[in-house]
Order: sequence, then C-alpha cells, then structure tokens
Amino acid sequence: MKFEFVLHCSRCGWQRDPEGTPGVCEVCGAPLLVDYPLEQLAEHFRPESVEGRPWTMWRYREVMPLAVDEHPISLGEGGTPLVGIPRLAQRAGVAEVWIKDEGLNPTASFKARGMSAAVTRAAAGGAPGFVAPSAGNAAGALSAYGARAGLPVRVYMPKDTPAPIVAECRALGADVVLINGVITDCGVLARAYARDTGYFDVSTLREPYRVEGKKTMGYEICEQLGWDLPDAIIYPTGGGTGIIGMWKAFAELEALGWLPAGRRPRMHVVQSAGCAPIVRAWRQGTESAEPWTSPETVASGLRVPAALGDFLILRAIAASGGAAVAVADSELLRCADELLHCGIGACPEGGATLAALYQLRAAGHIGPDERVICFNTGAWLKYLE
Ligand SMILES: Cc1ncc(COP(=O)(O)O)c(C=O)c1O
Repeated sequence: MKFEFVLHCSRCGWQRDPEGTPGVCEVCGAPLLVDYPLEQLAEHFRPESVEGRPWTMWRYREVMPLAVDEHPISLGEGGTPLVGIPRLAQRAGVAEVWIKDEGLNPTASFKARGMSAAVTRAAAGGAPGFVAPSAGNAAGALSAYGARAGLPVRVYMPKDTPAPIVAECRALGADVVLINGVITDCGVLARAYARDTGYFDVSTLREPYRVEGKKTMGYEICEQLGWDLPDAIIYPTGGGTGIIGMWKAFAELEALGWLPAGRRPRMHVVQSAGCAPIVRAWRQGTESAEPWTSPETVASGLRVPAALGDFLILRAIAASGGAAVAVADSELLRCADELLHCGIGACPEGGATLAALYQLRAAGHIGPDERVICFNTGAWLKYLE
C-alpha cells in the first residue's frame, strides 16, 4: 500500500510509517497522531475540491488516513446537520447557538466517525478481529463497522450501560461482555483479550485513527459556516477524542490556508460533576489529570475516570483560551429535555453542553455577541430508560 501520511508521537515526537496496525508510541506509550503533507496538499487541495462530493466525512479524503486509491469501510458517517436555534441563543444571551447533531450518524452517535476510520486502517493492516472497552456508543459503532468489514468484534462495557446499546451490539453480531466496573476496568480486560487473541485493540487513543474520524466534525462545521468558525465550541468530554480531533482539524485548516490564522474557536470541555477529572486538572493548572475515584453519572459517555490523552485535551483548552466546567446530572438532564423541546433528539451528554453554555455565559467566559456550537454527541433513543 502507498501512504502519503506518517505518524508521530504526541509526547516525544517518535515517528513511524502507517504499515500494519499501529497502536501507541513504541518509545513512551503516548498516543500517535497522523501528519499529512499539508504544505504540498495546499497547492491543489482547496475548498472547491470537496464541492459536489457526497456528504460523508470521507469528502475530506486528502486529509484522511487512506492509502492511495483505497475505499474506506463506510456506512455514510458524517454530514450531520448544524441546526441554528434562535430561541436558545436568546435564552442564553448570546448571538447564535447551533447544535451539531451527531445523533444522526450511523449507530446514532459521533463514535461512528472514529470507528469508520480505525476499522478501515486496521482491517487493511490485517487485523483478524476487533476488541474495545466502551461506555456504550463506541461499542455500538465498532460492532457495526466490524460487521461491515466482515470481521468479529468483542466489546467490554459496564453492566449498567443503557440496555438499547447492549441490544444494538448483540444484534450487530458482537460478542458482548458486561462487567462490574467502569470503562478503565473494561480497558484492562480488552487489552488482555487483544494480547491473547491477536484481535486489534481499538481503545480510545490507543490507535491513531479514531481521532482522524472525529476531526472531521471540525472540517464539517467550518464548511457548514462557509469556511468560518464560531467563537466557542462546547463538547462533552470523556476520553477526549472529539476535542483533540477538532483542535487538530483547525490546525490543519490553517496550514492548508482554508482558515485565516487567529480564527480558531475557544474549546470548552464539559464533564459531569460526578466524574470531572479534566475539570479538576484544569482548575488546578496541572498538565495531566489524576484519575477520578468513584465516578458516578447518568451520562455514561462521561463516566471516564482517566484519559490517556488528558494532556492533549488540557493543551487544546489552554491553547484556545477555553475552559473546562462541570455540571450536575440534574442540570444536564434538564437541558437534554430543553433540547428535545427544540426538536433535537439529545442524549444526556448533549444536554451537558447546553447546561455548560448557561454556566459559561453566566460566568462571563462567553460574551453576548458570541456565536456558539454545542455538540449533541448521540441520540436520545438510546437512553429511553
Ligand atoms: C454520547 C457521548 N458523548 C460524549 C462522549 C465522550 O467522548 P470522548 O470520549 O471522545 O471524549 C461519549 C463517549 O462514550 C459518548 O458516548
């Protein structure tokens, strides 16, 4: 296979080529990130280049981890709506509020983007099957993309994962293991299973390509706003691939010359008050986050006590001039209802972004003239319970 990108370690800079099934940095164990020849690409890859292509995340294929002439393993992920809601803007006291509705992806969450990219690369690299720990939505997505690739999937999830998600994984043919613990406990079992079987471990940031899928949310909002960006983004953050991916996308868009320097938005992370390791680290001004003991929240996607890419999340917040805030479960559920009453099928994590908007506006972190994008990362239907 011929590749036009390379991988580098996000901590120590170690480099390798993409052949096979890369995991983390072989020197220091930190996440690997993808580098494209952006200067060269800028000579011919322009916003007009993507016009008329299908509205999936693969419309940006020049900056995606594909070999030359390769077809991705796709279910049509990406191309989700950016819905302006003046009523919410008025209530929050800001100029504009858009909801990027990621619940409309295949398998009903933004996790589809990352799994399409990761499964495409790992299947081409010879993976015999896939394994991942998950709070739920990543497992649903992996089950679907594994099925699409014709390869077996095993997923480990906490036993209180919403029942519709467990049913979805089983219906898609995955081997589901429910455990008495949180996602970090699932991760230990998934890594052991990968070692024993040779299955590829698709855990968050333990391979380089889920971030590449997630970064397309950044390309997409930029295109949907006429190659411009909002003043602030609010994202519900667990493992952090959404925030890390979009921050990478904005750097790439600048390097391609599609976005003027200084136009990047402030990145705001929201977590639940019952599991907020990144918020605590942000307040303490540390470069990485201590694991959260006894994580408890109804927003299962935010029940992530420790993130491998904590330092990357904290760097993106700091470099963008953003902030990290925690919201109570009662507040995020109330705001999910508020989004539902605006017609958006919001999951609890999506509700958290609206709750954070109110909090950030009240604290003066977001001003009255600002344009804000809140991410609804998954669909309400999975949380009927
Ligand atoms: C609906 C939802 N929102 C947000 C997140 C957190 O995403 P990330 O781990 O990329 O920070 C998850 C993760 O499981 C999720 O399922």
